[in-house]
Amino acid sequence: MSETAEHGFGESAGDPTNGGTGRGEPLLKLVAVTLIVNGQPRTVTVEPRLTLLDALREKLALTGSKKACDRGECGACTIHVNGRRVLSCMSLVAMQEGKEITTIEGLEKNGMLHPLQSAFIEHDGFQCGFCTSGQIMSGVAVIEEAKFGWPSAATADVRDSFTLADLSRAEIRERMSGNLCRCACYPNIVDAVADVVARS
Ligand code: FES
Ligand code: FES
Repeated sequence: MSETAEHGFGESAGDPTNGGTGRGEPLLKLVAVTLIVNGQPRTVTVEPRLTLLDALREKLALTGSKKACDRGECGACTIHVNGRRVLSCMSLVAMQEGKEITTIEGLEKNGMLHPLQSAFIEHDGFQCGFCTSGQIMSGVAVIEEAKFGWPSAATADVRDSFTLADLSRAEIRERMSGNLCRCACYPNIVDAVADVVARS
């Protein structure tokens, strides 16, 4: 990350993603940050206070990650950073130099949906769809976390080694509990994740 400019009142004062608040406050120093986004190096020049979510949506036009609560409560903005799920509304882009970022746009490979994307369609795992990208990014991570043997609060005995076969519906519900759905598609979302687990 390198500092690129220092601004006083600037021409971009009306652009919140570029440091301006639209209320006439002075701009902060801008920094250049290079991320590997869905396999491609991307550099953004931002104020240090810009969230990763706003950088993805406003600087890189990756609007699949949704901003709902913008305070870490709903999971709509879930993405992967270096393979782990992260709430992008609670993360500063300036702290992600060199990191691998995967968004919902990066799940599809060679024109093929990720199996969990297909399962959401097959099981009607959404209505309005606003939470769906976060649900899918969490679901993909949940399956990987189970493969790594990570227990959850729903695991009966954390001293036993956890395997993907132990990823029950109760485990899926617990592990997906940070992702809220205002349309209450929870049973279908669990069906979709369970289906991919069964086929893995
Ligand atoms: Fe990030 Fe709700 S928008 S948790
Ligand atoms: Fe509408 Fe989840 S599908 S919020």
